Amino acid sequence: MADPNKALPENVEGDFFVDSTCIGCHNCSDLAPGVFAEVANDFYLVVKKQPETEKELRNALRALVCCPKGSIGTRNKHDMKAVLEQFPVEISEGVYYLGFNSDRSAGAKSFFIASEQGNWMVEAPKLQSRTISWIEKQGGLAYIFLSHRDDVAQAREFAHHFNAKRIIHEGDLEAQPDAEIVLKGSEAVTITEEFLVIPTPGHTIGHCVLLHKDKHLFTGDMLTSRERFDDPIEAWKPEICWWSWDRQTESIRRLLNYDFEVMIPSHGRLLRDSAENMKSHLEQCIRRCDAEPDKNPATPYRAKYLTFMIEHAKRTGQAEYSDETKRNLEDVLRKMND
Ligand code: SF4
Ligand SMILES: [Fe+2]
Repeated sequence: MADPNKALPENVEGDFFVDSTCIGCHNCSDLAPGVFAEVANDFYLVVKKQPETEKELRNALRALVCCPKGSIGTRNKHDMKAVLEQFPVEISEGVYYLGFNSDRSAGAKSFFIASEQGNWMVEAPKLQSRTISWIEKQGGLAYIFLSHRDDVAQAREFAHHFNAKRIIHEGDLEAQPDAEIVLKGSEAVTITEEFLVIPTPGHTIGHCVLLHKDKHLFTGDMLTSRERFDDPIEAWKPEICWWSWDRQTESIRRLLNYDFEVMIPSHGRLLRDSAENMKSHLEQCIRRCDAEPDKNPATPYRAKYLTFMIEHAKRTGQAEYSDETKRNLEDVLRKMND
């Protein structure tokens, strides 16, 4: 429950506010763009504009119930039961945003995909009875795709409840060592007829994306939409590329071999366009990535993110990752002091 006494000073006055527990996951600005926005070069978001239209109010309330830290509050009363009942939200044919982002995945979104060969979940939301019983009504889960180590949250509990198979790459296996399907190497793997997993190392060594029906591309933390440059497709900034910016750029280039019409990032906004236009957006993104002036920035912003990730890794039992991130942080701090 957000605390008005801890409301961040950058919030505009009015009903909605963000408090100091915000972890800067950006989910609120994805769901209610314009209302929530990042404070430049800092680690949290605030209310930049109070909702004015019905749609803005609906989206801001959705952002409130999905905030992984409960950092968003209102000073007025709203019908929250009605808001909760809006979830899961169908975002494309047979694809649902589950809502209720988990703090254990740094606020990543998670999705449900209906399939005759068994339903899928992408990443994992908070484990709660509302989501479990909705999935049960859809016929349960056969597979849980984990794009990378940061976003596994309570995938294990979902897998055990539904007898589902978790899919993760061996590069990020430390986050889910008992996963049922472990991908190796760089070959794309067809899991069932409609689902192709493509290894895309960069953000982490074991990062993968999921292509569904040559239509929906679930891009994990590799690609997002409209955060830095107003380009339709963007890579997240180098400050939050944990492993290799150049390898990530290669991975993005690899996606030119595939057709997709809906890009669905775990952090960021969904993007729809023709397969042909998606390719030209990817090419634009690759040009930006190649031209990035500082691929391993030593900035206070990166130091903050790395510190956060060390804590995150510890909380999710990933000691080795934490050690690697500690080395990254030491490197950044040393360069900042030079
Ligand atoms: S969803 Fe919550 S934690 Fe994430 S950026 Fe918004 S206010 Fe912060
Ligand atoms: Fe990540």
